Amino acid sequence: MNEVYEKLKKCHEAVANKITFKPELALILGSGLGDFCDTMDVKETLPYSEIEGFPKSTVAGHKGQFVFGYSNGVPIVAMQGRVHYYEGYPVQDVVLPTRLMHLMGAKTLFLTNAAGGINPAFHAGDFMLITDHICSLVPSPLIGANIDELGTRFPDMSEVYSRRLRTIIENSAAAEGVPLQRGVYIQTTGPNYETPAEIRAYGRLGADAVGMSTAIEAMAARHCGMEVCGISCISNLAAGISANPLSHKEVQETADRVAPLFRRLVARAISDICKGD
Ligand code: HPA
Repeated sequence: MNEVYEKLKKCHEAVANKITFKPELALILGSGLGDFCDTMDVKETLPYSEIEGFPKSTVAGHKGQFVFGYSNGVPIVAMQGRVHYYEGYPVQDVVLPTRLMHLMGAKTLFLTNAAGGINPAFHAGDFMLITDHICSLVPSPLIGANIDELGTRFPDMSEVYSRRLRTIIENSAAAEGVPLQRGVYIQTTGPNYETPAEIRAYGRLGADAVGMSTAIEAMAARHCGMEVCGISCISNLAAGISANPLSHKEVQETADRVAPLFRRLVARAISDICKGD
């Protein structure tokens, strides 16, 4: 069997031995959104450290556990802390959690992150519905022998972020009175922030926001047939657009400041997405 798939199956066995909860939707929580779980009716939690072979998150402020429970009555699994490529894991390991949540039964992947705003119309604290992404700066998570059990060798990426879910989320935001920008997310490897020249170049390529996660998770999820959506919290203006040097502290402070609104938007969107399922 394919080594990447073998590891995934082992992780899934470890989860299945401990957890009985069946999630309908998988939610990956970005910087500042970790406390989303406080709004959930939590049934079970599983620290990543209890899953043999699971990559460990090393970023300060990232908790590192799966949280299983209900959000507005919808059964979900939330990742409190994600794994980043810049932590040094092979890209296939970085998307292992996404694939694992697919094996747990989640049909939908809801991605959130903190991102730098490239679009000059954006402000720190805005939310951006991800309409598409540019992932050419990071190796594809699908490199290596294809896992036929998950998906096809050459998967289509013409609608990574589901048009159907985007419409629902736009309506959820309007109903909650939360302004929502929309745009293209570009993923870099990180961990350094970008130079002003890079940001100008990414803007010309068509990117509206930049971050160090998300696009590869979205690709892995599409490969295995999940329906995907995502929202970025614009935690800062990207390098050169902002007059100030960038810092993780600023990213976290802005994300924390708007977290209550972000929580409300995400909870409403999840409920609207799964309504009637
Ligand atoms: N660049 C890259 N990643 C980020 C940024 C940024 O400006 N802000 C939050 N994550």
